[in-house]
Parts: sequence; C-alpha cells; structure tokens
Amino acid sequence: PEPGMPLLRKRRDELAAHVAEGRMDAVRRQHSLGKFTARERLALLLDDDSFTEIEPYRRHQARGLGLEDNRPYTDGVVAGSGTIDGRRVFVYAQDFTVFGGSLGEAHAAKIHKVLDLAVATGSPVIALNDSGGARIQEGVMALNGYGGIFRRQVEASGVIPQISVILGPCAGGAAYSPALADFTFMVRDTGWMFLTGPDVVEAVTGRRVSHDELGGADTHGRHSGVATVVHDDEESCLADVRYLVSLLPRNYLEQPPATRETGATADWRPRLAELVPAEPNRPYDMRDVFTEIADDGEFFALHEAWAPNVLCALARIDGRVVGLVGNQPCVLAGVLDGPASQKAARFVRFCDAFGIPLVTLVDVPGFLPGVDEERSGIIRQGAQLLHAYCEATVPRIQVILRKAYGGAYIVMDSRSIGCDLSLAWPTNQIAVMGAEGAVNVLFRRELAAAPDPAALRARLVAEYVAEYLNPQYAAERGLVDDVIDPADTRAAIARGLAMLQDKRKPGPQRKHGNHPV
Ligand code: COA
Repeated sequence: PEPGMPLLRKRRDELAAHVAEGRMDAVRRQHSLGKFTARERLALLLDDDSFTEIEPYRRHQARGLGLEDNRPYTDGVVAGSGTIDGRRVFVYAQDFTVFGGSLGEAHAAKIHKVLDLAVATGSPVIALNDSGGARIQEGVMALNGYGGIFRRQVEASGVIPQISVILGPCAGGAAYSPALADFTFMVRDTGWMFLTGPDVVEAVTGRRVSHDELGGADTHGRHSGVATVVHDDEESCLADVRYLVSLLPRNYLEQPPATRETGATADWRPRLAELVPAEPNRPYDMRDVFTEIADDGEFFALHEAWAPNVLCALARIDGRVVGLVGNQPCVLAGVLDGPASQKAARFVRFCDAFGIPLVTLVDVPGFLPGVDEERSGIIRQGAQLLHAYCEATVPRIQVILRKAYGGAYIVMDSRSIGCDLSLAWPTNQIAVMGAEGAVNVLFRRELAAAPDPAALRARLVAEYVAEYLNPQYAAERGLVDDVIDPADTRAAIARGLAMLQDKRKPGPQRKHGNHPV
C-alpha cells in the first residue's frame, strides 16, 4: 500500500465521525419538516455517483461568541461538481444542520470557488439554498462573503446558466443571489425568501404576516415574479431542475443541446385552425398552440402563475431548442401589462444570451389601458421588452395568429424591430387598432351627423376591415414574409429555424447599452 493511504483513511474516518457527531437531531428535524439534507438533495439532483466534492475539510477560522469551540467540517455548505445526463454542472448545497446553513467567511469562500470553477470550465451552476442568512457571529465578514457571491454571479451572467433552488429559508441580503440567477425554483411550505422577516415587518408596519404570506413559494411565483418555477416537494423540484438543464447550453459559446430531427418541416397540424377561434375577441388557451407546435407536445413553462397573460417557455422544434413567447388570450384577453412585459423581456434576454432562437406567437389587442398602469410605469416596462427584442441577435421568427394592434404589434418582435421571418395566418388583423375604434376616431363627426349612425358605422367598419385588417396589406409592404395555412405553422417555423440556424449578427461597438431596467 502507498505510504499516505493509512493517514488518508484516518482523516476520512475522522471526517465521517465529525459529520455524524451531534448532528443527528438536526438531521431528524430536517426530515420531520419534509426537507432532505444537503447530500440527499445532491444525490437527487445529480447523476448517480457523479459528485466530486471540493473542500470537505474546510472549516471557519473565526473566534468569539463560542465559535472557536465549534468548528464543523464543510462549514455548512457541501460544494463541488457532478453531471446531469452526463453533462457537467457545478453545485453547492447549504446544509441547515450545520450553523443553520448560515454563511460565514469559509462558507462563502467555498461558494466563490464553485462559481469561479463553473465559469472557468463553462458549466452551469446550481445553488441549493437552505440558510439562516449571514452568520451573525462572523459579522461583517459574512456580508463581505455575500458581496463576493453577487459580484461573481453578475460577472457570470450571460456566460453560464445560473439556477437557484430555494429549499428552506433565504432571508436578508441572501435573497439577492436567487434574484441574480437566471432561474429560481421554490418549494411550497418550506422555501421562503424575503429581505426583512415577519418580526421586522410587524415592528415597522404593525402588520402581522406569516412567513408564507410574506415570502412563500406562491407569493414569489404569483405576485413578485421572483420565483420562476414552484413545486410542492423537493423531489419533483429537483427532477424539474434536471429537465431544465437538459434544455440549456452549458455556456454561451455552446449550442443548446439539440436532439434528432423530428420531421417537423413537413408536419401538418390541422388542429391549429380549430384551436384558434376566428372571431378576434373569443378567448382560447395559447398553451394548446404551444403543444401543437413543440416536439412531442412538450414545453417547459416559466413563471406560469406570474403575469399569465404572456407565456414564456423553452421547447424543441425539429430537435432544436427554442424560446417560445406567446400572448395568452384567455387571461386579460392577452393584453401586455407591466409584469408581462418584464417577464417576456427577461426571457428574451436569457434566450439571446445563450443562443436560443426566439419564436414569438402574436395575438395581442394592445397594452393594458389604465391610470394604475401608467402610474406604475407601463411605458418603462414595455420599453424593457422592446429593448430586449431590438437587441436580440439570435434567429427570430414571428407568427401572427389572429390580431396584432398598435404598439403591442411593434413590440411583439415585428419586422420593424428586427425579426428575421414574419409569418401570418390568412385571417389575421395587423393594424393600428381594431375596426370599431378606428372608425370612431376617424369618422366621429360624420357619425354624429348621420341620420342612421349605426348603418354608417357598419359600412365604415366593413370597409376598414376589408382594406386594413388582413395580412395582405402588410405582406404587400414586406412586413410579413409569408401568409401561411394555420396547419402549416409548426412546419413553417421548423423550416425557418433551419434557414436561420447559421445567423451571425455582431452587436454595435460600445461598452454596453443602457437597458431601461
Ligand atoms: N447565524 C448563525 N447561526 C444561525 C443563523 C445565523 N444567521 N441562523 C440560524 N442559525 C443557527 C441557530 O442558532 C440554530 O443553532 P443551534 O442548532 O446551535 O441552536 C440553528 O442555526 C438552527 O436555527 P433555528 O433558529 O433553530 O431554526 P428555525 O428553523 O427555527 O429558524 C430561521 C430558522 C432562519 C428563521 C432562524 O434561524 C432565524 O431567524 N435566523 C436568523 C435569520 C437572520 O436574521 N439572518 C441574518 C439576515 S442576513
């Protein structure tokens, strides 16, 4: 045997003893709350036996408040690398059974290392959060550790995909780490995120709120938009993270992982024409259209409960990963409001950063009118979506299903802001506004003076519809590349993606644009 081996074995035994010592109660408590331990979570997330741990022996060097007598190995975070479906990722899992998963200098240094290695190797990074926040005994050094995480995350933004999973508390400044990630998963009942906890909220505002109400998975999945995906339990959550990773490139230089071609370029889908009612105001579920268009009818929806009037999803078409953006006519008639604009903007920017082509399915009556909307900055928020599309250099395909009015038409990846291929169904209506509204503005005086205003209005509306509300008007002027049979939609998108797959478009020379955040 090699001379070093007995010593190595002794160290390993010491480590195992240390890990077990005094922590069984904490592990039992973790399990009783319906939570897995850090290592159990990594086992669920990663391919079997693929985990390589780094710095298992690390422990804090801090003193004071009894810390010098309590120096557990790992320092409350299990860090390293493994694979998901054979593709390398970097991971860290905070261990609530050690110091409540709180973050001190050594704990932060391990996370810094994981982030640095993820960038150096061009691998996605996945953070499993379960922590009491900054380790109070380590004071400002803990805060310094957070700063180092945030700076690295920002530097890694657009270089590698970043996924954050909230499986326990994530409070105070710690919540900015998931906020900076590309995707944040949360588990109901056990995961919560807030900047100031219920006690501080009560002291300042006098209002008593529960943890869940303040920062639970549904609060962030439905109202704040901080959580991208919400799950009932850890197992399904971590399985879903694996599914997401299967749709992402490992870094911005790699292609998204394509599968075999699925024959989509000749795939006729007659059901599409039945799904979308011809009358412009009749609702339908755009998710059914996504199902018809995507390979195997499968798509990964993001922010399902937040701003559901717009849909954002990753899917494959003919084996290629695409980002689908679609107005949702069965929620708020599919109008764009502030949250919908922000949701779609962030998604478009993610897809653009990671070379994922964009397919935009348009059926939009306009931006949501209202005093609240204007006051809360719908102009600013709409501009975020506009900026995101204008900036995107990935292949961009627009399909106008039914109606596309006014500013919302421009913003939903119209030809004028740079889509590469615009397709329209024969029944669609592209115009500044709907026929009734247009006639009321243009012929107000004539209608007021007419002996039979209803008859005059009906005639003028019919004329406006015939002249403007059809794709031919836009197609003759080059704003629509082709008018397609609805049944040909999946195939036409697939052919378009093949046509555009080698698209290269360098951005302008500058430091960076000033995105209207
Ligand atoms: N710093 C140091 N230790 C911490 C900690 C922190 N920020 N948060 C939790 N811990 C320790 C606890 O002292 C406890 O240690 P023990 O097992 O030796 O008694 C252990 O972690 C478990 O915490 P506990 O409070 O028993 O768990 P809980 O599930 O009842 O509550 C929290 C969890 C997160 C709500 C609670 O620990 C808390 O409020 N922590 C402080 C949060 C905070 O304000 N952080 C700073 C913000 S940046």
